[in-house]
Amino acid sequence: MRAILALVLVRIFVPCLFSPLACAADSIVFIDKQKLWILQSGEATYAFGVNERGELQHLYWGKRIGAQDFTSAHSLPDWASFDLSTTTTPQEYPGWGAGLYVEPALKVTFANGNREVVLHYLDYKVENNDVEITLKDAISALFVHLHYRVYPDNSIIERSARIENRTSEAVTLESAQSASWTLPQDPSYRLHYLTGRWAGEWQLQNEKLQFGKRLLESRRGSTGNEANPWFAIDHMDETDESHGPVWFGELGWSGSWRFTIERTPSDQCRVVGGFNSFDFGYRLASGESLQTPPFYAGFTDAGLGEASQILHRFQLERILPGSPHPPPRPVLYNSWEATEFNVNEAGQIALAEKASRLGVERFVVDDGWFGQRNNDHAGLGDWYVNPQKFPHGLKPLIERVRHLGMDFGLWVEPEMVNPDSDLYRVHPDWVMNFPARPRTEGRNQLVLNLARDDVKEYIFSWLDRLVTDNDIALLKWDYNRNWSEPGWPEAAPADQRKIWVRYVQNLYDIIDRLRSKHPRLEIEGCSGGGARVDLGMLRRVDQVWPSDNTDALDRLTIQYGFTEAYTPHVMMAWVTDVPNGIDGRITPLTFRLLVAMTGSLGIGGNLNKWTDDEIAGASKMISFYKQIRATVQDGILFRLGSPIESDFSAMQYVSQDSQQVVVFAFLHSQQFGRSMPLLHLRGLADDAIYSVSAIDDKLENPTRKLSGAYLMHHGIQLRLRGDYDATAIKFDRVR
Ligand code: GLA
Repeated sequence: MRAILALVLVRIFVPCLFSPLACAADSIVFIDKQKLWILQSGEATYAFGVNERGELQHLYWGKRIGAQDFTSAHSLPDWASFDLSTTTTPQEYPGWGAGLYVEPALKVTFANGNREVVLHYLDYKVENNDVEITLKDAISALFVHLHYRVYPDNSIIERSARIENRTSEAVTLESAQSASWTLPQDPSYRLHYLTGRWAGEWQLQNEKLQFGKRLLESRRGSTGNEANPWFAIDHMDETDESHGPVWFGELGWSGSWRFTIERTPSDQCRVVGGFNSFDFGYRLASGESLQTPPFYAGFTDAGLGEASQILHRFQLERILPGSPHPPPRPVLYNSWEATEFNVNEAGQIALAEKASRLGVERFVVDDGWFGQRNNDHAGLGDWYVNPQKFPHGLKPLIERVRHLGMDFGLWVEPEMVNPDSDLYRVHPDWVMNFPARPRTEGRNQLVLNLARDDVKEYIFSWLDRLVTDNDIALLKWDYNRNWSEPGWPEAAPADQRKIWVRYVQNLYDIIDRLRSKHPRLEIEGCSGGGARVDLGMLRRVDQVWPSDNTDALDRLTIQYGFTEAYTPHVMMAWVTDVPNGIDGRITPLTFRLLVAMTGSLGIGGNLNKWTDDEIAGASKMISFYKQIRATVQDGILFRLGSPIESDFSAMQYVSQDSQQVVVFAFLHSQQFGRSMPLLHLRGLADDAIYSVSAIDDKLENPTRKLSGAYLMHHGIQLRLRGDYDATAIKFDRVR
């Protein structure tokens, strides 16, 4: 009977499933009669439809289901007189009105004082992998265009909204979210998220999702350390690293943002995210629109490990500059920890000569090269080369660096100014401020108001000149404080809060123009470490600096958290000197090198102090790194052991073509002579044969060849001992 019913359904649906108008791509099925959209992205299905009230109702998000199984949307009943159907029915993009008590995606005030918006379906458009659904307020000419993009190869869906005011008067948006994501009703969700502070970024947290609202946000003007706009939600008792369902997502916005993760008393769960509505108030004049940032989300039923693998692959293929094949990250040297502000031509040349002996491919001069920048009290804003430090400009240094076989990078912090600078003395009005109120400094600096177009043009023009006049391969773009006094006195009072949005749009505009004018220029995103890492930034920068904390032990945890959300390709990791500046810890050079080799490798120590033995040992390891770089930067990452849960941690990377596998293992402190657990590798073909080459002699019973079956089912035994021991092993497929 069931089979017959299925056939009938298929026959009914076939005409619209295959009509060109009904479904522009296999990834999007539109069933006209029932006003249903079924998005198929990789292993996941996402479905919604128009209900009998005309609302766009969410129907399903989870493991793949055939389109023929879905039936029309129908609103859910009231729960007594207290939770009306508007609240119990999950809407794709609920406006605040008509008795909605869950988190709205849109909240507005109209010119006449009305404060309600009730969105009804109006129209749709499907093109390739994109759907645009237009909703309209039941009463006024306020429109919302919901955009969905399906990434069929990545199990990811992108959502955003454009809010358009076609009324004759201004409308103020008090909350404008990118999307409301509804999960299947369930009482046992667990939320994973990332928190941190300067030098302690990327701390992975998890907790059972309780009733009420859990807020993850930044009110700081930029992405922030305290929380990152990434989430993963799984089933408490069912999901682990390699099994079970996970719903996950991240936002493409580098300004203040907010995720509201809500569990209602009836165990409905949703994630609403976009612009932070704190101090928000975006006035849309008649005819104007506001585009919200893209919010990307995905589903897998193969655990947290696969959730991060999907995100890594998505970032490599769809987000990063140069995607789908972003260029490999060169081994970099940065002089910051070696010299701090004490940079000059002779000193930098001496370091460059030593760096080239190590096998470094890119030499980066950090802070201190410009204006009167002898410490962090002065000079930001004055972007001329300091004539005492570089009497002939940067050219002789750059030429020497090029001659040594490296390319050249330079630090800038374009969005900031020290009050002790020529720029501030001439343009005190260029910083964000509230008139007649003190301007709070952070690291002795103030934030330029990029929302102003004159400030934006000024920044673009000096950056353009710098890159035009000098042979610069990389700009390290830093941003060392959060906002205070976010005033924009030159704007009309009703428009001043647009600063939260306009600043970031103008920042993006500067970077986009610079990159399109200088297509070979690369950029490293930095914010005193990792305080501005998000998919908005990753569209525009080739790599990021995750943390000023370069202590190798701390870095294990920091990098573990980082790679939950972002690919190791962008994760810069330097080897610096000991005792470490943050915590005084002393770790062996090989341990520091191996920790840094799990991401994109950099060297940040004072090479003048390195012994010949250290230089020789490090250069051998750097050449090993070059053999595994493509696997580490662009491969599939398996977390074999977590540094959060144990003193012993391990990571495995499999190259995209499955030809190489690399394993790193780290021991913090051995106790009681305990041997290391057998490491079972993952994701290999049983019958594949690999030749084995370890960086040292810490693999028990080293055999020259091993099978995938042996590596996964028997596992490998490592001989790590004492404190801060580590190893790396490379497996190259021979058959
Ligand atoms: C920030 C960066 C560092 C370094 C300094 C320079 O702290 O994170 O890497 O560039 O600024 O002032």
